Amino acid sequence: MNINVEGYRVVVTAGARGIGRAIVNAFVASGANVHLCDIDETALGACLTAVSGTTGTVCDVGNPQQVDQMMTEAIETLGGIDVLVNNAGIAGPAGPIESVTQESLLDCLNVNLGSQFYTAKHAIPLMKAQRRGSIINIASTAGQYGFPWRSPYCTSKWAIIGLTKTMAMELGEFNIRANVICPGSINNKRMEHVIQLEHEVTGNSKEQVREGFLKQVSMNTFIDPEEIANMALFIASPLGRHISGQALAVDGHTETMRN
Ligand SMILES: NC(=O)c1ccc[n+]([C@@H]2O[C@H](COP(=O)([O-])OP(=O)(O)OC[C@H]3O[C@@H](n4cnc5c(N)ncnc54)[C@H](O)[C@@H]3O)[C@@H](O)[C@H]2O)c1
Repeated sequence: MNINVEGYRVVVTAGARGIGRAIVNAFVASGANVHLCDIDETALGACLTAVSGTTGTVCDVGNPQQVDQMMTEAIETLGGIDVLVNNAGIAGPAGPIESVTQESLLDCLNVNLGSQFYTAKHAIPLMKAQRRGSIINIASTAGQYGFPWRSPYCTSKWAIIGLTKTMAMELGEFNIRANVICPGSINNKRMEHVIQLEHEVTGNSKEQVREGFLKQVSMNTFIDPEEIANMALFIASPLGRHISGQALAVDGHTETMRN
């Protein structure tokens, strides 16, 4: 099976580290031209140096003006856009629902969900004009289950699935596809942070929390960032040309989100 995305013009949000970085690496390795953004200037610079041929913009995706500037730069630099990967997402607050402040709720919804509207607004008119495009929104298995003590995050990830299915319906006639990838627990620093948050809320040891996350999954495993990148590459490539409106979990099969 040959995945060919040679010359594809790809924008990846929050691409300097973690899953985003694995997505950048995978598309570049398969011949695509990638423009990425990240809120962290140092991490972005390090990524642009390490992955030759990439370009990038410092951008907080929760800030619509910064997204306008980033998308304008990306589209100018790439000469258009074929694939938009909305990867950015923050963990949001951890705690019982009654402890969630308006500020922390709106911040989480704005970065995780709002950003996907802000970027799509720029990509869709161009994709419609060329009658081709693929939008890949990163949610989570938290978008398919309840997730105790992480209500803003969980809510934002469910909303991403609703947004994406609506995108698929509005855009299908223009040969534009929209899909969600739902990663399970990932082998990376972010998951260490999530384990730390749950340890603080529940008082359970970090080892118990980790075991709890593993037990939720039939295959008893965490997932490597590269596995999410491989799915993104497949969906975006000609091999995925009729995959649209789907929420595709890469998670070793989550049975429950309750530890
Ligand atoms: N790590 C997991 O276990 C896991 C599981 C399911 C879903 N996800 C989702 O996958 C996506 C990527 O997760 P990750 O683990 O790679 O994240 P991460 O925490 O490792 O962060 C990746 C990058 O995001 C950047 N970033 C943070 N806030 C930003 C902002 N406002 N604007 C632009 N860039 C910003 C960071 O600087 C960092 O370089 C997120 O949407 C996340 O919710 C992650």
